[in-house]
Amino acid sequence: MKINIAVLPGDGIGPEVTNQAIKVLKAIALEFDHTFLFKEAPVGAIAIDQQNNPLPDQTLDLCKSSDAILFGAIGDPKYDNDPTAKVRPEQGLLKLRKELGLYANIRPVKAYDMLLEKSPLKREIIEGTDISIYRELTGGIYFGKKHLSEDGNTASDLCEYSKYEIERIAHLAFKAARNRKQKVTLVDKANVLETSRLWRKVVTNLAKGYPDVTLDFLFVDNAAMQMILNPNQFDVILTENLFGDVISDEASVIGGSIGLLASASVGNKHAMFEPIHGSYPQATGKDIANPVASILSAAMLLEHFDLHDEANLIKKGVEKSLKLEITTPDLNTSYDNITTSKVGDFIADFISNPNDSNIN
Ligand code: IPM
Ligand code: MN
Repeated sequence: MKINIAVLPGDGIGPEVTNQAIKVLKAIALEFDHTFLFKEAPVGAIAIDQQNNPLPDQTLDLCKSSDAILFGAIGDPKYDNDPTAKVRPEQGLLKLRKELGLYANIRPVKAYDMLLEKSPLKREIIEGTDISIYRELTGGIYFGKKHLSEDGNTASDLCEYSKYEIERIAHLAFKAARNRKQKVTLVDKANVLETSRLWRKVVTNLAKGYPDVTLDFLFVDNAAMQMILNPNQFDVILTENLFGDVISDEASVIGGSIGLLASASVGNKHAMFEPIHGSYPQATGKDIANPVASILSAAMLLEHFDLHDEANLIKKGVEKSLKLEITTPDLNTSYDNITTSKVGDFIADFISNPNDSNIN
């Protein structure tokens, strides 16, 4: 298969981790006789520095003309500390999601057996956790009308959702649940928010078309608590943009490091794959950032094209690396010399020699 992949490494550790994902994809291409063509373009703070635009037109055009996008990370502390900045790196990512119509953000959360002791949560609570979060990505408070009063003392962000926006992601969540444990939990704040009441109404109605799937509801404050009290109760979580952002970072604690969590953002025409972590500026250039989230995002890219054997081989390589503690400092306790690139090398080597007795 031939896949044209737009590579947007972005800021901070983005380029370092994305390089490892590319390394792994190249190993897959060789092993399975595929052609993956990579074309790189700037996004985020680096694009602001170069062109005063977090999403230059050429970058957006490249994404539109590619089959898939591999995204690194976005953000720079110089903007975080300046709330008055008019141009911000994050605008690049948000515009990309909106322009490409990437309305569903899928974030798998898994407790790996070999990492149960790395999580601050107790083993017996997290063991067996396997959740798929379906976060709405192009609506809600992220994209509603924003306002700051003339005197700068009052601000507002509008949260708006339409039936259509809710239905299209809900269908994806229910279809996913069919191939999992047949359960969807809608996370909302329907005791307070009108938008949440619309979500409940629309999703309840739509669920009738999926009689094999159980639907339940949780208020987001309770869901935040349940996520660390009893994450095993969840299968597919369906939620709006902001709640999904918060709950997925919280859920990352279960796996032992946010550096493990991959995501896919899909729409009707385009698909983008990115780690859920940010640009981790403190680690930039040190070759210490965990590349697994980026590598697993590459596996999700392959799954998107139905290349399941290929994706599974990457996952096996990741599991092997975790088992042997070929892991970066966020997870590693035994060795202190495992770098970002060594993890990438190990997984790429595993793909080329899955039966090599040295690594099996
Ligand atoms: C994420 C990030 C983004 C978001 C930021 C960088 C705009 O936190 O992908 O979760 O809030 O969606
Ligand atoms: Mn986030």
